[in-house]
Amino acid sequence: MLTFSTDHAFTEKSGKHGLSPREIEKIGPRLSSALTSIRERRRAGELPFLDLPSDRKMVDSCRSIAARFSTAQNFLLAGIGGSALGPAALFGALAHPLHNLLPADRRGGRPRFFVLDNVDPDFAAALFGFCDPRETVFNIISKSGATAETAAASLLIFDRLQHVLGAKWKEHVVCTTDPRTGDLRKLCEREGLLTLDLHPGVGGRFSVLTPVGLFPAFCLGFDVDALLNGASEMAGRCLSDDLSQNPAAQLAGMLYLFDSERTKPIQVMMAYANSLYLLADWFRQIWAESLGKAVDLDGQKVNVGPTPVKALGATDQHSQVQLYIEGPFDKVFVFLEAKKFRTELPLPKLYDDVSSLNYLGGQTINKLMAAEFTATREALARQERPSLTITFPELNAHGVGEFFMLIEIATTIAGALYHVNPFDQPGVEHGKVLTYGLMGRKGYQDKAKGISV
Ligand code: PA5
Repeated sequence: MLTFSTDHAFTEKSGKHGLSPREIEKIGPRLSSALTSIRERRRAGELPFLDLPSDRKMVDSCRSIAARFSTAQNFLLAGIGGSALGPAALFGALAHPLHNLLPADRRGGRPRFFVLDNVDPDFAAALFGFCDPRETVFNIISKSGATAETAAASLLIFDRLQHVLGAKWKEHVVCTTDPRTGDLRKLCEREGLLTLDLHPGVGGRFSVLTPVGLFPAFCLGFDVDALLNGASEMAGRCLSDDLSQNPAAQLAGMLYLFDSERTKPIQVMMAYANSLYLLADWFRQIWAESLGKAVDLDGQKVNVGPTPVKALGATDQHSQVQLYIEGPFDKVFVFLEAKKFRTELPLPKLYDDVSSLNYLGGQTINKLMAAEFTATREALARQERPSLTITFPELNAHGVGEFFMLIEIATTIAGALYHVNPFDQPGVEHGKVLTYGLMGRKGYQDKAKGISV
């Protein structure tokens, strides 16, 4: 079970920049009312992301479509934002660190995994040059079915497949999109492409436990049952009224207080394991896009929202931590700690007469990582820099599922505290519309009046 520690968040350890138990007590009723509203909205069917872990029909459709691609050498996902970051985080957390470089037998016969999210011509061309369409499954993911980056990727995919495979091209494509609306859905119907339904009530950044994440997870051989069990167990913990046992309420409440009462809008998620780094990337999106809003639920102009940042320990100790420890008091930290790595790597005893080497020999690199984390958290606290810690007892699918659900519920609670709608993204939509206009999409040219590429 994932644990959540608030030890370094209070004045006792982090001085005047920490929180006081009194402030936590004070925010209790607001957290309880947010939780009551979440439970009510869930019962009313308004928060379907909470019930994804028990959607057997959805899971079975992902599993059975994945089974058709058991011989694929490459899995190329085309999607962006919430339609890419979740699967990328799953891959980062659960695949072998060098998965894509391993020969097929050492990948357990699973495909290499690539994400085409950005519209970078060099990267896109390189990826298409590398992935032989005959050996590749292309998963096009777009909830709206219209996003320009994914639309462009799909054109490249369709064209390449049609040239190389002729009539058989359709056998290599799976589209994940809204079951009813959008151009991608229409195109799938017209062409008879394989599709996976993205629940209409689940937005992109809350969609990692839909076919967006589950289809790639099955293709890559991840333990989807454990992932969903972890998420379901965490949903149980995070909907509990007992705030002292509810990690999502604590996380949301404290990060909100750090922003609003301690002027710490910069919220750094720092992973002390390479495999957890892309979880911090995924967090960065859900936290930013859900909470950064111009108007509140009453239509008042508020321009609120914390700024999430991702960092990697120990690497960023030699890049960012100087700033974190001595710079402005505008940051709070959320550490992701791995109690146990998949490997125990002993450090050999060599050069007994070299003092910068001999103290390490006979210990493990695992212990060094633990020391780096403990030292950084402590050094921050001594300079009055508060932090929270999420600890993964092991690096596995269960813990990753717990993490996703923890953050999704914390985001929903934080939305209530900021009094904003965490499920819309008008700023993103505005940018999309201007892009359509600049690229000459019919009906949008007017929107981009006065600007040009
Ligand atoms: O979380 C979100 O809603 C967004 O980040 C979307 O996922 C992103 O804009 C891509 O949208 P779509 O899946 O409609 O292509």
